[in-house]
Amino acid sequence: MNEIKHKKRIFSGVQPTGNLHIGNYLGAVKNFVKFQSAGNETLYCIVDLHAITVWQDPEELRNSIRELAATFVACGLDSNKSILFNQSQVSSHSELAWVFNCVTRVGWLNRMTQFKDKAGKNKENASVGLYIYPSLMAADILAYHATHVPVGEDQKQHLELTRDIATKFNNDYKVPNFFPCPEPIIEKTSPRIMSLRDGSKKMSKSETSDMSRINLTDVSDQIALKIRKAKTDQDPIPEDISGLASRPEASNLINIYSSFKECDVQEVLNDFSGKPFSFFKPKLTEVIINEIKPISKKINDLLKNPDQIDDVMNNGAQKASEISSPIIDSTFKILGLKK
Ligand code: TYM
Repeated sequence: MNEIKHKKRIFSGVQPTGNLHIGNYLGAVKNFVKFQSAGNETLYCIVDLHAITVWQDPEELRNSIRELAATFVACGLDSNKSILFNQSQVSSHSELAWVFNCVTRVGWLNRMTQFKDKAGKNKENASVGLYIYPSLMAADILAYHATHVPVGEDQKQHLELTRDIATKFNNDYKVPNFFPCPEPIIEKTSPRIMSLRDGSKKMSKSETSDMSRINLTDVSDQIALKIRKAKTDQDPIPEDISGLASRPEASNLINIYSSFKECDVQEVLNDFSGKPFSFFKPKLTEVIINEIKPISKKINDLLKNPDQIDDVMNNGAQKASEISSPIIDSTFKILGLKK
């Protein structure tokens, strides 16, 4: 087989498990929007098959999928510019995932830190799906021969595994570059937004305390309260970045501000150096509310018309299948499963 040249194609996915928080927004979805306006081919997927690796209430899952679709659109994803769809509606993901389960080595999966975090102490009781989750993630990306994947830093290890799976498949079946080795695109200022209660933990949907995160659907009073209560330290805001070393909570709030404002951390420090956090926090609250309030209003408006959201996602699934089906066909031919 001749070596394939891949054109630039951007793919990313988000799990429909509860509300999106500003970590998902700043680390991922806000960038998804930027990529679609630069003339790129973009696919954004609600990865519902990933969600069921831990038990989900079916009715809640159905609602969460629709809410995430509304959130995508409310954040600025546009079905005329991007393909927006649900993973479970395109069978290529599951088909390729099985192939990759046969390529991925057990030793590789054993190194995945996200499995260790999510399975916790009771590994024996975790689902097999949770263990092989990264191989489905590789299939999500490679079923489209995607070359670039915008994600938060927590997904970097899964992207490295995706590259290992692509390379091993290409080598094992002597099909150089059939699957591309996709590049992660990780935003500089918001690679990992941390919990508001503990600067050593990432902001997460699964953290029990809702005070640890700001959800895109939080109302202004909730946002103000969460920022007021956010952990900081006694020291004032420093003059330069070196003054933020060993101050994870202070650093996190400054990063959040700079990500929303889309400016450098140093610019924020120039504006606020010497000021206490009691002065900075109301400014941060204002910046967050200004950007999030219109989004949550739009989410609520869109959810009044669920049929319209479902139509967008169904159309997206059809377009996604048109891209992935020939790739699955070629994969099956390479494997000897199809003539
Ligand atoms: P998920 O649903 O946990 O998160 C969605 C996106 O948000 C990013 N993110 C963060 N970024 C910065 N700071 C944080 N605190 C933070 N928390 C989450 C994540 O890095 C992600 O980009 N495995 C993926 C979903 C997935 C996927 C894919 C992604 C499945 N298949 C294929 C890309 C390509 C996940 O659980 O993301």
